[in-house]
Amino acid sequence: MLNTIGIIGLGVMGSNIALNLASKQERVAVYNYTRDLTDRLVQQLNGEAIYPYDELQDFVQSIQKPRKILLMVTAGQPVDSVIDSLIPLLDKGDIIMDGGNSHYKDTERRYEKLKTNAISYLGIGISGGEAGALKGPAIMPGGDQEVYEKVAPSLKKIAARVGDDSCCVYIGPKGAGHFVKMVHNGIEYADMQLIAEAYTCLRETLHLSIDEIAHIFETWNEGELKSYLIEITAHILRKKDERTGQPLIDVILDQTGQKGTGKWTTIQAIHHGIPSSIITGALFARYLSSLKTERVFAETILVGPNRKVQQPNLLIDDVRQALYMGKVCAYAQGFAQYHMTSKLYGWDLPLKDIALIFRGGCIIRAEFLNTISDVLQDQPELPNLLIAPYFAEKLKEYQTGLRKVVCNGINTGVSLPCLSTSLSYYDSYRTGRSNANLLQAQRDYFGSHTYGRTDMEGHFHTNWQQ
Ligand code: 6PG
Repeated sequence: MLNTIGIIGLGVMGSNIALNLASKQERVAVYNYTRDLTDRLVQQLNGEAIYPYDELQDFVQSIQKPRKILLMVTAGQPVDSVIDSLIPLLDKGDIIMDGGNSHYKDTERRYEKLKTNAISYLGIGISGGEAGALKGPAIMPGGDQEVYEKVAPSLKKIAARVGDDSCCVYIGPKGAGHFVKMVHNGIEYADMQLIAEAYTCLRETLHLSIDEIAHIFETWNEGELKSYLIEITAHILRKKDERTGQPLIDVILDQTGQKGTGKWTTIQAIHHGIPSSIITGALFARYLSSLKTERVFAETILVGPNRKVQQPNLLIDDVRQALYMGKVCAYAQGFAQYHMTSKLYGWDLPLKDIALIFRGGCIIRAEFLNTISDVLQDQPELPNLLIAPYFAEKLKEYQTGLRKVVCNGINTGVSLPCLSTSLSYYDSYRTGRSNANLLQAQRDYFGSHTYGRTDMEGHFHTNWQQ
């Protein structure tokens, strides 16, 4: 009997996707370059229809045609190596899917290369971490739609579900699926940083205990901030260190790692001239966190305001409003990046569906994505979520909280890079007449770069010295 699908790469994500597929009546062939990870998966098996192979050729031949092979290997060179090994073993019409966090440009290059071998290629963004892979991730497939239709039944049945909806929807051609996953991760960086800053306000400005803060996050998770990241933050704050008995958060080193997707989101935004300051701020906050030795030294010589003489004048609800507004601004930037890039590449990204599939399975799943999806359903061409009537009305009220939180941060010397950038993005975006006229005048002054006028069409130059 032939296997219905194959998976290459048996790290935790690959193994859990294999288990998920097997639980949905697929017969899964698995292969890993080294035997250790295969053995680890085999030891976990309890009669599931998962069949390991030691030789790539045997693995390929065990799969029914047209073959569906999902790569769950580390992004970058390993994906190219696996593809090169597969090409001589595959037949015309077989389908390779890359389920890792590949750069969308790499996906487009591989798509073109495989096309010349008559092999189909799909770049598939998968979000949800280890638990999501096992129980139902959000899946963002990109490539030729007719190829996607052939694998859709397998992907849809392992994806998360929200009500009757599957969190797997065709995203668009070529690298569109990996692009959407990349920006998802950029939003994830911003969301995580905003939550960390709200935690800092509660802890360092309002001087609440960790248990009190955990309780606040649990309460927030019952309202409009309800989301996976808020939920896990409450769990994290409740966790005690087994060695010292202290809250575990207090013994974790303050240096954030990253694997590159937030950086790519930022680079793409900069490259295409898309304002993405909150996502970029979150990335730079991670970079600054890694300068631990420098920060520890700087703390001994650089002076800030005396926090003890400052009156916080802050309410917990101000922090909640600030966090909500920061999140709206960050998602607005991410969705604006989808909107602008979709136009640039002619991808026709299904923005309302992207918001819908983000509701379940993925790391940024959140209650308010329902609202974002409703907004985009009504106004698919909306350039920015901030101007949707629902959010404009909400931010009219919540800006008070965000302004108070940011002012407190400034007055007490507590760094809040993403909350303050969110406010500045909001204020800049709602400024109809900005100071860019002065920059244009300066450019024309020193470089004759010309400027436009408010009252006439054309390019103008002034001899400023006369
Ligand atoms: C997901 C996550 C995942 C990502 C990790 C780590 O959607 O499941 O985004 O794809 O790899 O969150 O990312 P960083 O190491 O860059 O923080």
